[in-house]
Amino acid sequence: MAANEMSGDVYYPSEDIVNNAHIPDYDSVNDKAVADLTGFWDEIAKENFEWYAPWHTTLDDSNAPFYKWFVGAETNIVHNALDRHMHTATRNKAAIIFEGEGGDERIITYHQLNRLVCKFSNVLRDQGVVKGDVVTIYMGNIPETAVAMLACAKIGAMHSVVFGGFSSEALLGRIEDSKSKMLITCDGAWRRGKIVDLKAMATVAAEKSTSLEKMIVVQRTNHDVEMKDGRDFWYHDLMADASDKSETARLSSEDNLFILYTSGTTGRPKAILHTHGGYMVYTATTLKWVFDLKDEDVWWCAADPGWITGHSYIVYSPLVNGATSIMYEGTPDYPTPERWWQLVQKYGITILYTSPTAIRGLMKYGSELPKKYDLSSLRLLGSVGEPINPAAWKWYYEHVGNSKAPIMDTWWQTETGGFMMTPLPSVPLKPGSATRGFPGILPDVVDKDGNSVKPGEEGTLVIKGPWPSMLRTIYGDDERYLKQYWSEFKEQGWYCPSDSAKKDEDGYIWVIGRQDDVINVAGHRLGTAEIESALVSHPAVAEAAVVGLPDDVKGTIVKAFCIVNQGNETTPELGEALRAHVGKEIGAIAKPASVAFVDSLPKTRSGKIMRRVLKAQELGEDVGDLSTLAD
Ligand code: WTA
Repeated sequence: MAANEMSGDVYYPSEDIVNNAHIPDYDSVNDKAVADLTGFWDEIAKENFEWYAPWHTTLDDSNAPFYKWFVGAETNIVHNALDRHMHTATRNKAAIIFEGEGGDERIITYHQLNRLVCKFSNVLRDQGVVKGDVVTIYMGNIPETAVAMLACAKIGAMHSVVFGGFSSEALLGRIEDSKSKMLITCDGAWRRGKIVDLKAMATVAAEKSTSLEKMIVVQRTNHDVEMKDGRDFWYHDLMADASDKSETARLSSEDNLFILYTSGTTGRPKAILHTHGGYMVYTATTLKWVFDLKDEDVWWCAADPGWITGHSYIVYSPLVNGATSIMYEGTPDYPTPERWWQLVQKYGITILYTSPTAIRGLMKYGSELPKKYDLSSLRLLGSVGEPINPAAWKWYYEHVGNSKAPIMDTWWQTETGGFMMTPLPSVPLKPGSATRGFPGILPDVVDKDGNSVKPGEEGTLVIKGPWPSMLRTIYGDDERYLKQYWSEFKEQGWYCPSDSAKKDEDGYIWVIGRQDDVINVAGHRLGTAEIESALVSHPAVAEAAVVGLPDDVKGTIVKAFCIVNQGNETTPELGEALRAHVGKEIGAIAKPASVAFVDSLPKTRSGKIMRRVLKAQELGEDVGDLSTLAD
């Protein structure tokens, strides 16, 4: 069954789950939030967080869609993630349980994490980093990534984390766009038993960059790397001399916390901007309510800190909640496809949050593997990143959750900061639907005039109102922010995430996929324009078009169609070379699964490539309306 086919099955939560949940009744809380949105968030923000100074305005919508939250308040997310826990029993609790790919293990308490963050914040200050600077972080999934992010936030610098799977070219583009002067990286990262030489790629970027001045290198893989005097510094050397006393900067609620690049319609990735106060309140509350986080839980968000999921739900919101969070360096099936189940048993993990791609990848090894391990500690499961097909949902539910752990299918985006559509543990589930809005969030599916579509009809997903962790803008490009997210339903003032969806008779929403030229490969957003511009930067390629095709494991894979320049032979070797070239320009995740050589591409009369025609042809489907086709 396709991911977007509405399944008729409904799974009701057990009485036990409902009675013990933080929010046993979704409707009453949602009604309250919808009736008085600002009162709702005002109360939550006052009760659950510490502020240096209170706000005078909960929500300032006078310059919408440039919304501001908790205006006038002073805070710092690090004060809530670390400082305040130093006065409670949380101080001695595990903040991060780290397991390396090779099985090495580190348990870092809140006290220890705070100490590392204090020291590293002093290192950054000594190196000249000041409030408002952008610090680029290019590392693997290790605790020092969290330390680096938190140390930036502590002093009011913004971090820009670039996923460690991106290439030196992609890294360079993000450093230049943000005019970053400081880069924090590792010697290498472990990936399937091999070293990914992050330092070598960082060096290539540093040498070409016009803004970068310094690089701090964390030792992880201990292989030989070249260090340039005066530019490159070892993390451990700087940390050895750093003081562990450090003031957390008193920031305004709307001060910038981080930027994170994500793909859009054009070739140039967008820097999504999030700020301290609203992001803190919303991400921490969504984690606590949706995954019903309790003091005794062991939370595992099996994402990478390089994506928004890692930012919000590995680093910030678990720490703000004083939770114990697992960080695992490796991939699900290395060195064995039992790796994840071993971890659940070893650490008594109670909540597992991952992607449909990972679930499908593990599902293909059969249900015997999870059966070999004691997974009885798991009480809640989660899914994110792409629509989950009902077959994968059911496998996850039966064989991982032993038919007792409800699955929270959370729909959200880099832009939204936190979960937007999601069940709570007390909500009846339908496999494949992210159900309804988080309390106070107003999602709807509408036609192009903004009318709600009838049940079963496809339409455009919109969010009809602001929320605390919404992106504030595209960093340095307010125009693009307005055009990208707020122009389609400008009069109504609705946020437009560029997804299509359906609604059913019960008001449950079923997300179908992207409406723009973004391809979601294994839960990672890639722009067709980015991949196409990588392909045409190869000397053999004259023109290129890429489309996403359905795949049993990854959800979608990329297929490229290329027209070669005269004199080039369209051999399989050239196809391989082009795949490698995309890997070099963007990163391995963007490599097309296959490359086809063609003589022409379907285009509109104005010269725009009609990707949907290529896709329909590939899938043997009706190509639809061809009236705009040039040829
Ligand atoms: C898709 C990831 C269906 C969607 C947190 C969205 C989903 C894009 C779901 C954002 C879900 C995310 N069901 N589709 N539960 N979660 N998506 O910015 O198309 O990397 O627009 O954020 O992923 O991807 P991003």
